[in-house]
Amino acid sequence: MNPVQHLDRLLARPEPLLALAPMQDVTDLGFWRLMARHGGADVYYTEYFRVHPDSHLEKDILASITHNPTGRPVVAQMIGNDIPSLVRNANELQQHAVAAIDLNLGCPAPIVYKKCAGGGLLRDVPRIEGILGALREAVRVKFTVKTRLGFDDTEAIDALVPLFVKHGVDLVTIHGRTVTQMYRDGVRYDLIAKARAGIPCPVLANGNIGSHDDAASVVRQTGVQGLMLGRGAIRNPWIFDQIRQHFRGETARQPSAGERLAYVEELYEAVTTPGTRELDQVNRIKKHLNFFGEGMDDPQDFLNEMRRCTTRAGLMEVCERHLKV
Ligand SMILES: Cc1cc2nc3c(=O)[nH]c(=O)nc-3n(C[C@H](O)[C@H](O)[C@H](O)COP(=O)(O)O)c2cc1C
Repeated sequence: MNPVQHLDRLLARPEPLLALAPMQDVTDLGFWRLMARHGGADVYYTEYFRVHPDSHLEKDILASITHNPTGRPVVAQMIGNDIPSLVRNANELQQHAVAAIDLNLGCPAPIVYKKCAGGGLLRDVPRIEGILGALREAVRVKFTVKTRLGFDDTEAIDALVPLFVKHGVDLVTIHGRTVTQMYRDGVRYDLIAKARAGIPCPVLANGNIGSHDDAASVVRQTGVQGLMLGRGAIRNPWIFDQIRQHFRGETARQPSAGERLAYVEELYEAVTTPGTRELDQVNRIKKHLNFFGEGMDDPQDFLNEMRRCTTRAGLMEVCERHLKV
């Protein structure tokens, strides 16, 4: 079974497709391995490949495709706006085992959107149309798009829906916020539902899904075929199995505090590169631990103490205390 067939088979099931979101500097090969060990997503998105006239496939990101440890299909994400480069990059990626090529229409980092890439493209819908047309022609695996609702208002999504239909996009993920909202404010699941109703292909809802109850509620509100989870999976790698259990009508298993601490240890190992200084290593895992506060009794205390740590032992002591082991 090739990756496209694998993804089709997963999409054909009645339960929602569960995707691990692309997250720059987080969702690398080691992180995917860790997720898969704890139940794992149905499909994994790579960090974005930056695409411009001089770009080459970034080796570390490519490794997550060539050494995919999850046994699940991979979607390769690209960010850029130069059509010949995007087509070239898509062709290069299709030499590898990818189920889909995804176009990023949501990155809110100013350095990206000011160059009219990622979320910046949402200010120029005609330019997006040109990209969709060219990529649809070039992509023989599935062609997918991950978008926000718009740049500083939610009008772009209304203009994009007919373009997704016209250009035969195979799957659309919608993060229910605008670019300027970054990660603030509530997610507009009502607007995801409205867009979903106009898109014939599968739609994944994204944004703030942090529990199996959230997952059930979002599916109910939006009618989507799948869900994409990012930060919720960093702090709770069991979440994919918990959602599956919930949709099967079972009680979702909650890990013990000891299991959660063991996961932090595993995360530390997963982000460790041989030869790196302990301080650099500790600083590296802080990127992940930044998302652990939610659900704790005293999130701000945890974050403040964790950010001051300079040693592995100190970090684990803080985690142990706040995870209440
Ligand atoms: C650290 C970090 C890195 C991210 N990198 C990417 C990326 O490379 N491509 C992308 O489409 N979205 C990226 N995102 C956005 C996520 O994929 C997702 O849309 C967002 O976090 C909302 O989902 P969540 O509430 O489940 O985390 C990133 C988010 C975070 C927190």
